[in-house]
Amino acid sequence: MSRTPLIVGNWKMYKTIPETAAFCQEVKGEMVGLDGKQVGLAVAPPFTALNTAALALRGSFISVAAQDVFWAESGAYTGEVSPKMLADAGCRFGIVGHSERRQYFHETDDSVNKKAAALIKEGLIPIICLGETLAERQSSSTFAVVERQTREGLKGLAVKDPERLVIAYEPVWAIGTGQTATPNQAQEVQAFIRKFVGEIFSFPMAQGIRILYGGSVKPENVGELMAMNDVDGSLVGGASLDVKSFAKIVRGSISR
Ligand code: PGA
Repeated sequence: MSRTPLIVGNWKMYKTIPETAAFCQEVKGEMVGLDGKQVGLAVAPPFTALNTAALALRGSFISVAAQDVFWAESGAYTGEVSPKMLADAGCRFGIVGHSERRQYFHETDDSVNKKAAALIKEGLIPIICLGETLAERQSSSTFAVVERQTREGLKGLAVKDPERLVIAYEPVWAIGTGQTATPNQAQEVQAFIRKFVGEIFSFPMAQGIRILYGGSVKPENVGELMAMNDVDGSLVGGASLDVKSFAKIVRGSISR
């Protein structure tokens, strides 16, 4: 089965509303000639700029992703944003379980699972992030960690269409460090995740689901990563903030 590559730019806590509008206009210009059959594309601005991005990208094949979500539909949860609010703002995807959220904001496998389920219920597509820390890799527990995060994160999710769920393998030691995983390291873990997804759901689901790699992806290394069978795209942090470098990453991802 051929999987359409997906590239998601995770802006983290960067860009104002005017900067978002300008980026979206420019990225549309950069993508002229491409369409959603060749590559899926999304940007993930901060909450304040989600709707700005959605309005600026309306009519294009570029989607908007939120960087986080809370699982309740509404209620007295000061500071939180529900899946319905994200849909209302124009989002198609929601990133959950990013390692920065796990590390700084006490995200657990259980909360990641609840958030993913809530997004699915609202018709949004979760991008579930997982990956081992340096200490876990060095103690040879990469596969055990990734297996646990996959099992707990995907528990009970009601997904039948593989396009409605995305997994991002992001080794924590590769995020923002410039130290990208080698193509073989990414492939090894992502093949393992896919096999495990097959056990949780079904073989066709596992074959159809997109597993992204994230961690210091740049225009220079995206080609070799995308050449791997089980790398179906990337979640890009730093290199997604500049339109030109983001566009190069997108173009470097479609030759597969
Ligand atoms: P990076 O971030 O590309 O800056 O390493 C990736 C991510 O955090 O998703």
